[in-house]
Amino acid sequence: MQTPIPPSSPFPTRQPTPPSSTQPLYRRLAEHYLAVIKAGTLVPGDRMPSVRHLMRQHEVSLSTALQAWRHLEQGGWLEARARSGYFVRQPKRAAIGPATEPASLTVQDPAQYIGIHQRLSAIIAQGRQQAVSVDLSSCCCASELYAANALKRAAIRALRHDPSILTTILPGNGHASFRNAVARRALRAGIQVAAEQVLVTQGGIEAVNLALRAVAHAGDIIAVESPTFYGVLQALESLGMRALEIPTSPSTGMSIEALELALRTHDNVKAVVVVPNLQNPLGCSMPEANKDSLIGLCERHGIALIEDDTYSELADNGIPLTALKARDKSGNVIYCASLNKILAPGMRLGWMTGGRWQARVEMLKYSQTRANEVLTQIAAAEFMLDGAYDRHLRRLRDYLRGQRDRMAEAVASYFPQGTRLSVPDGGVMLWVELPRPLSSQAIFEEALKRGIRIAPGTMFSNSNRFDHFLRLSCGHPYTEAVDQAVQFLGNVSRQMLMQAA
Ligand SMILES: Cc1ncc(COP(=O)(O)O)c(C=O)c1O
Repeated sequence: MQTPIPPSSPFPTRQPTPPSSTQPLYRRLAEHYLAVIKAGTLVPGDRMPSVRHLMRQHEVSLSTALQAWRHLEQGGWLEARARSGYFVRQPKRAAIGPATEPASLTVQDPAQYIGIHQRLSAIIAQGRQQAVSVDLSSCCCASELYAANALKRAAIRALRHDPSILTTILPGNGHASFRNAVARRALRAGIQVAAEQVLVTQGGIEAVNLALRAVAHAGDIIAVESPTFYGVLQALESLGMRALEIPTSPSTGMSIEALELALRTHDNVKAVVVVPNLQNPLGCSMPEANKDSLIGLCERHGIALIEDDTYSELADNGIPLTALKARDKSGNVIYCASLNKILAPGMRLGWMTGGRWQARVEMLKYSQTRANEVLTQIAAAEFMLDGAYDRHLRRLRDYLRGQRDRMAEAVASYFPQGTRLSVPDGGVMLWVELPRPLSSQAIFEEALKRGIRIAPGTMFSNSNRFDHFLRLSCGHPYTEAVDQAVQFLGNVSRQMLMQAA
């Protein structure tokens, strides 16, 4: 027997489930209703259709319908009331403003030996002086979120099968099985690369260093996002290159307009380093049109484009993020990737494909570190070609989504009014903008005294302009201790704000 749909229901009678090839059915259904809630068609307090109604309307099973509502409940968008059903609610994080957009058309002076090493060393040394019980500073996930046992089994199998892998010299560009596995995976990001064009590196950071050394020399200017991953600033400082910080939007990534202006202003910019997907620390991804513009701009100016793709695989299921490299027709993009965040931080695996600088990056790698260690490559290759890798990634993404939501809820609940935040569609971190004149460096120091470590905004630029931001990691389980730590950070911020008033 069919329950009639109430006349006020915003849902049409048979509604097809929105299509998508990658997401499970319950997720598609949940996303569909989430869009309806976000559009304001359903407002807090509205009753959702019953589970039975959902089953009939979308021709799905009871468990799919229940999973869809539970998924929205976990995200804080619905609440279940005993014997009454599910009702719309608004999570606190939805009411908090997004991080402020930068003033786009400003060109900074390229900084030289500005002291990022000194600043980071000071922050790291401070961080080590105190015993840390809650670490919100690292953007790796908790060890238990990775498939340690499956990787162990793969490594043991590889050794049993051929112990001589440990005693045989390896080609400089890496083990064929691993190069093959990453080349196959890269197809999903739209990148067509032959295994011979893959160079295995010591994580993503070696790849970025090699790319910089291949295209520029000491004294050259390199355009980077602002804020940017501090490892890029360190690499530039070590190589004697100068970072030109380009305003970067928390929603759309590096400003193409500002980059264009910078390229007109400075004539010795040799490369642009960019994290187009799930940028660190902002979490933003460039719109597809901006990716095209960026490629065109770099080609017109004859400067290399270094793409750092560390987090794409952590985009929420169903959100396709394409690589710049997938659009590269001329070989002007050097693509650098890391498996440390997604597969196993302890294996230190990364890879790159150097476009027209391939021979040069291979030579530089050979001259500097020779080939990577072999056992991790073989174990990783076996795991990646198995369906277990996709299952692992699905679990990791789901887990991280829950963590981000919970952390964002806590920030919205505990931090002072005027705090802003954009919750990214994937990844391990939240970039929190504090009301001025709060200083994340001062909060960092107070937090350390309580055994809490965060990443202050000053780590992500050669300037001080991000001192009122902090980056919080969502890679660890959201325990009571983490909640108390976020509450402490919020309280300290309030107190400091009151003292400053
Ligand atoms: C954007 C970005 N690139 C590169 C790296 C370094 O990666 P790996 O640990 O693989 O060297 C990181 C690490 O945090 C990062 O966030």
